[in-house]
Amino acid sequence: MIQTISPIVEKKVLSDEIHLLTFRSKELVQNAQPGQFLNIRVSNAFYPYLRRPFSICEVNNDTFSILFSIFGMGTKTLANAKVGDEFDIIGPLGKGFTIPPKLDYAVIVAGGLGAAPFPFLMSKFQDGTKIKSFIGARTKELIVTYKLNNALIATDDGSFGKKMTVVKLLEEELNDLNNYSNLKIYGCGPTPMLKALTQLCLSNNLDCEISTECAMACGFGICQGCPIESSNSDEYYLVCKDGPVFNIKDIKI
Ligand SMILES: Cc1cc2nc3c(=O)[nH]c(=O)nc-3n(C[C@H](O)[C@H](O)[C@H](O)COP(=O)(O)OP(=O)(O)OC[C@H]3O[C@@H](n4cnc5c(N)ncnc54)[C@H](O)[C@@H]3O)c2cc1C
Ligand code: FES
Repeated sequence: MIQTISPIVEKKVLSDEIHLLTFRSKELVQNAQPGQFLNIRVSNAFYPYLRRPFSICEVNNDTFSILFSIFGMGTKTLANAKVGDEFDIIGPLGKGFTIPPKLDYAVIVAGGLGAAPFPFLMSKFQDGTKIKSFIGARTKELIVTYKLNNALIATDDGSFGKKMTVVKLLEEELNDLNNYSNLKIYGCGPTPMLKALTQLCLSNNLDCEISTECAMACGFGICQGCPIESSNSDEYYLVCKDGPVFNIKDIKI
C-alpha cells in the first residue's frame, strides 16, 4: 500500500450519469491487481473529510482510471475536477479477484456501477478464455458497458435489454454455462444483487467471487468499521483488508 499525490491526466463523461477519471501514478499501477481499490481524499476541506473508495477500473502503463457516478459531495467534487488537479490517493488496497490457471470461461455479472472493476480484470485473462458479460441496471440510462463487449443486458424497467434482474438473465443462460467445466463467475454490484447471485451460484455449484461494498473509513484494517460475516465460523472479515473480493463460499451476505 502506498500514498501518492496523483494528477488527473484525462476526464471523460461516458453519459449523463457516468464519469471516467484517469490519474497518473507509476507506483500505484505497478502494484495493482484487478478487484483492488483506491481510497481517494477528495478534498482538503473539513467536509467531505473521509476518503472515498473506488475500484481500479483500468490500468495502462503509468495511469489508472476510476469509473463513478455522482452520489454526494465526494463524487461531485471528483466530477468537477480538472485535468492537472492533484489528489491524495492511498492504494492499491484490499484483496482482488483470482484467476484460476486454466480458465475456459469467465462470466462477468455487473449491476450498475458494479461494472467498474471489470475492464482491468478482463485485461488479465489469458488469450483463449471465453468471456461473457451480463449487465443490469434500473434503467437504460444507468447501464454501464464500458469495455464490456459481448454483453447481455437487463433493466428493471425494461427500457433496454430484457425486463428482469441481471441475475435472472444469468439464470436463463445456465444450461449453456453448465457445458463448461473450468468456468468462473465474477460479480459486482448492489448488495441485493450480490445476494441473489450468491444463492444462484451456491445452489448450482458454480465457482463465484464477488466484490462486496460497504461504507469505509480507514480502508486498510485499522478502524474495524467494515465487518462482513464469515461463513466458516463466528468470525468477521474486514471488507477493506480481507476483501472487497470474496469467494461466495467464505462469507454470509
Ligand atoms: C471497495 C469499494 C469500491 C467502490 N468502487 C466504486 C466505483 O468504482 N465507482 C463508484 O461510483 N462507487 C464505488 N464505490 C462507492 C463509492 O465509494 C461511493 O459512491 C462514494 O463513497 C460516495 O461518496 P459521496 O461523497 O459522493 O457520497 P456520500 O455523501 O458519501 O453519499 C451520498 C449518497 O450516496 C450513498 N452512498 C454512499 N456510499 C455508497 C456506496 N458505497 N454504495 C451505494 N451508495 C452509497 C449514500 O447512502 C448517500 O445517499 C465503492 C465502494 C467501495 C467500498
Ligand atoms: S474501513 Fe477501516 S477497517 Fe475497514
